[in-house]
Formats: sequence, C-alpha cells, structure tokens
Amino acid sequence: MGKIDIQPHAGRPIGVDLSKAPEPTLSNKPITPERYWDRDFWKREWETVWTRTWQVAAMVNQFTKPGDFVTLEFGSEVILAVMGEDREIRCFYNVCQHRGMMLVTQEVGNSRRLTCPYHAWSYNLAGEIKTIPDEPDFPASANCRSKNLVPIKTGIWGGFVWFNMDDDAEPLRDFLAPVADHLDAYPMDQMVRTHWVTIEGDFNWKLVQDNFNESYHVFHAHPQLKYVAEFSYLHSQFDLYPSGHARMLMAGGAPSRTLRGGEPEIIRQMGEHIRFWGLDPEDFRGRMHDLREALQQQKRKLGAEKGYDFSSYDDTMLTDNWHYTLFPNLSFSMKPDGNIWLRARPHPTDPEKCFFDMWYLNLFPEGQTSYYSPTMRDWVSMETPAPHQSGKAGDYTMGPTIDQDVALWSAQQKALHSRGYKREVLAGQESRVRYFHDNLERWMARG
Ligand code: FES
Ligand SMILES: [Fe+2]
Repeated sequence: MGKIDIQPHAGRPIGVDLSKAPEPTLSNKPITPERYWDRDFWKREWETVWTRTWQVAAMVNQFTKPGDFVTLEFGSEVILAVMGEDREIRCFYNVCQHRGMMLVTQEVGNSRRLTCPYHAWSYNLAGEIKTIPDEPDFPASANCRSKNLVPIKTGIWGGFVWFNMDDDAEPLRDFLAPVADHLDAYPMDQMVRTHWVTIEGDFNWKLVQDNFNESYHVFHAHPQLKYVAEFSYLHSQFDLYPSGHARMLMAGGAPSRTLRGGEPEIIRQMGEHIRFWGLDPEDFRGRMHDLREALQQQKRKLGAEKGYDFSSYDDTMLTDNWHYTLFPNLSFSMKPDGNIWLRARPHPTDPEKCFFDMWYLNLFPEGQTSYYSPTMRDWVSMETPAPHQSGKAGDYTMGPTIDQDVALWSAQQKALHSRGYKREVLAGQESRVRYFHDNLERWMARG
C-alpha cells in the first residue's frame, strides 16, 4: 500500500499513492472579503485563471456518434464540444463567424452540420465553413471561406472532455499532476452519471471551493457523517501539491474513531450497504469500528461475484474517501463505487453569483442497471441518461451532504459584506483554503 504499483492492471495502476506530500510554504496574506464581490478582481480572474486553466466541457460518454454535441455555459462564453466524422471530440467557441450569433442553442443533441439559426451559414463537424448562402454577394476581400469556427484546445482524461482557452496551455496531463496519476487506479471512464444537477447560486464561486477545501465544518454542518466516515483532522491526511491541487484522505466504511455509541444510527445509515456485502450489521454491535476491515475483506472476496472489478483497488480504496480539490474549481470526491463530482462555474455577469454543478458518477456492478448507492443513500439507475436538473438552491437535491453545504453559502456571501468582518482566521486543517487563495493570487499575478 502507498506507492503506485508500476505494473498496470487492466490498463490501470494498482492503488492510489497515499504518501504525504511535502508541506509547501503558505502565506499569511488576508483573504480579502472584497474578492468575493469586487468586479475588478472578478474580471482579472477571468483573464488570468478561467481562460487559462483546463476545465471540463462534458463527459466522454455523452458522445457516441459523429455529430453528438454538448454545450456548456462558462462565464461569458458558451463552449461547444462536438464529435467529428473521425470520432474525435473537439471544442469550439460557440459563435458564428458571420455576425456573432450563438451557433448551437441546445445543451445536448446531434447534428451532422452545424447550421447557424440566423442566416444559415453552416459548418462541418470539424468546424470548417461549408455553406454560405448568397456567397457571391460578399466582397472577395471578406475571405469568407476562411471563416471557420475558432477551435479551443481539447483534451481527454478520466472520462471527461476538457478544454483550455489558452492556446499555449501546458498539456492536460501535466496540469492534472499528480491527480490523474492517482485516480487512474479507478475505472473513471466507466462511471455513469446518475445525477446531473446545477443550481444558480447567489454566492461567489470561491465560497464553493473554500468549502470543499476544508473538513473543519463537517462535524457541525454534516453531523450525520460521523456515523459512516472519519472526519476528524487528527485521523485524516491533507496534501498540498505543487500544481495547486490538494487532497484529503478520510477513512470510510466505519464511524469516526472519535465517535462513542450511536449504533442505531450507524446501522440505519450503513445497514443496506453492509447487508449488500453479505454481512449482518447486528454482528458488529459493540465493535462498529471493525466494519471497515470487514467490509474490505468482503469486497475483496465477493467483488467479482457482485459484478465489480476491484483488481486495481488496494484495500483502502474499497472503503475510504479520497477527496481531491483541483485548482481552481473542481472537486472529485472518490468513493469505492463512484465519484461525487463538484464544480463552481463563473457566472456571465455577476461576481456574486455562480453556477454550481453536482454530478454523481456511479460505478455500476457489471450486468446490473440499478443498485443501492451508499453515497446517495438511494437506489440509482443507469437505464436512462440522467436528465439535467437545473434551478435555484433547494429546487433539486444533490444528496444529503451537498444540500447541507449549499444551504450555507448564500448567507456567507451576504455576511462577508459586513463592516464587522475584516479577515479570516484559519485552523491548521484549513490549510487547503489558504493554499487555494495563495495559488489564485499566484495565477492572477502572472497577468
Ligand atoms: S450570424 Fe450566423 S449566419 Fe449570420
Ligand atoms: Fe461540506
């Protein structure tokens, strides 16, 4: 356990590298409240961070045939990802080169030609201009035949289509270091999105990332989690990587080591999962902390029979929670059977708003189309593509834990404006918040 096994298994490394990253030097600069609403700060973020970092446009499995497309609102841009005749997925700025009409106005669909709804200029799936009505009416100097869609740098990793608006951006894999190396141990690209929820929140995007960069709030904001996972900083590991990404390792499959009692609640929350793996929760009365190891053994023993390929998992991956926060705005909260995928997207016009996306990406046992997800605490199905549920906070559930997070941010956004608040005080276990803001300032200083 620990170091990645260099023997790839089923094309995957075995186990996640659990070694502790060297501690970087952190600043003690104020995390100024103004950065959560100041328009100049927000504009500089757009120029120096959003248009230069790798971002996710879509899931690869949304593209099955040429012409399949997905659009993503991202700040003032709409990104268009489309599968070409050669089955390559390419990203473009979703804007017609005639007079700036939005080319594709649906979120998902299929079309063999990309035809502008305004004057019907049309482009092929590689973004090349093909049809220009009344073409002889344009002056030769307009050089209409060169007016292809403007491409955006595109990459694929982990079952996601990534884009980067900076033509000179570092390769995706370098940007993701070491996260991609770690998470390759999971069959990321086999995960199916069973929840696709977006809320337009009245809070700045950084409140989302701040929140996912610390677990200090867990004992109070998510009191239910102590029954099923370790949340205490004393028993967790935090890693800050030179790339700006960070990680928290939390044991799972058993209650927190700090918990005394609570057996009825542990059984209420974990019973279905424990029974799925052939154990009787009643047998663990008086020794609930033994559940983690017992579940690991059962999963190892019964995994194949239940339809799981756990051959690239080390024992910790069978129960534990690896929470990765990627700079600037992503979280991958890895579970043995899935990933709670979280992202704050910049709003097109308002620094005090953002779009917050929650995807639950499920690893289904082979041959099964539905099963009980311990994370969502619900039955999930892969039979129909997840509909995009989009609304305001509270309109749709993101699962019990994330709903509790969302409920905090609007009030925090308002309170940050108070004359009675000057700057933060951070505990050691909130070092990822500090690191995030240090990195943000580093990116912004590049100009
Ligand atoms: S703006 Fe697209 S064809 Fe005119
Ligand atoms: Fe939380």
